[in-house]
Amino acid sequence: ADTLRALAKRAGLKIGTAVDMSALNNDATYKDRVAAEFNSVTAENVMKWSEIEPTRGVLNFGPADQLVAFAKANGQSVRGHTLLWHSQLPGWLTEGVASGDIDSAELRQLLKQHVFDVAGHFRGKIYQWDVANEVIDDNGQLRDTIWLQKLGPGYIADVFRWAHQADPKAKLYINDYNVEGLNAKADAYYELVKQLKADRVPIHGFGMQGHLGVQFGFDGRALQNVQRFEALGLETSFTEVDVRMLMPADNPKLHAQANGYSILLRACLLAKKCTSFTVWGFTDKYSWVPGFFTGQGAANLLDENFGQKPAYQAVKETL
Ligand code: XIL
Repeated sequence: ADTLRALAKRAGLKIGTAVDMSALNNDATYKDRVAAEFNSVTAENVMKWSEIEPTRGVLNFGPADQLVAFAKANGQSVRGHTLLWHSQLPGWLTEGVASGDIDSAELRQLLKQHVFDVAGHFRGKIYQWDVANEVIDDNGQLRDTIWLQKLGPGYIADVFRWAHQADPKAKLYINDYNVEGLNAKADAYYELVKQLKADRVPIHGFGMQGHLGVQFGFDGRALQNVQRFEALGLETSFTEVDVRMLMPADNPKLHAQANGYSILLRACLLAKKCTSFTVWGFTDKYSWVPGFFTGQGAANLLDENFGQKPAYQAVKETL
């Protein structure tokens, strides 16, 4: 039977998954499926700052390099995730800022160095970088983080400029959740991106994470949203798609889930410049959802035994 990657190739789309490195190293079925079904991979965790630099000044690229090598061996492209985020920061950094040991000028220098360290290390090997992740809150305001508090709103343009210097060929993305339809948060991104473009900031892509939930319903206007960002001159991608549900799973929920995946994939395929569609894990055996959303789960395309769910069939039929 056709794999997702064979169907996606025909459609001119990169189809990706987040990769859990411990599953890749310890579960042969998982590893085989990553190689067979996807032509793009994203590190679920190992390119985040806390993983790369757990000790100040000591860079640990080992696990991320392993993923890049795996991708190369399997003819896959790599999405970089993520250079700037408020979460999964190293303890030395957050504690240093909290205690006052790291002042604003030093924090800005640390961020700049981090972007050059990481984007520079992978220079030429990453086709899309999530440069700025989750910088706007659900009300449409710039998110209240150490970056905004200490560096001011200009930090967003700065990280894009630094990333572009460090890796001039990578497509540079701004990325968030709850922006897959038309709402205040997506509107705020539209205005932010428009301003960044007017200021000649090197930003090339709008990433929609796509963490949906069956219990919330789905906004049917994903395509309109994608199209307005493309009209600003950006490419687009769905970067972390999963569709969770209140447990236990049942037939109606599994079919609603299939519809959630289809809505996003259809928007991507119908749009002109939607270049990649990445799921945030592909089997319920390894998923961040149960650990983060109490009582929820079953968010992926395959079940815990790698069996195909209605969502997997729906993705195949849509491609
Ligand atoms: C999640 C990972 O899946 C978990 O393993 C980790 O403990 C926390 O982060 N938005 C993002 C991703 O941009 O980086 C997050 O990944 C999920 C939400």
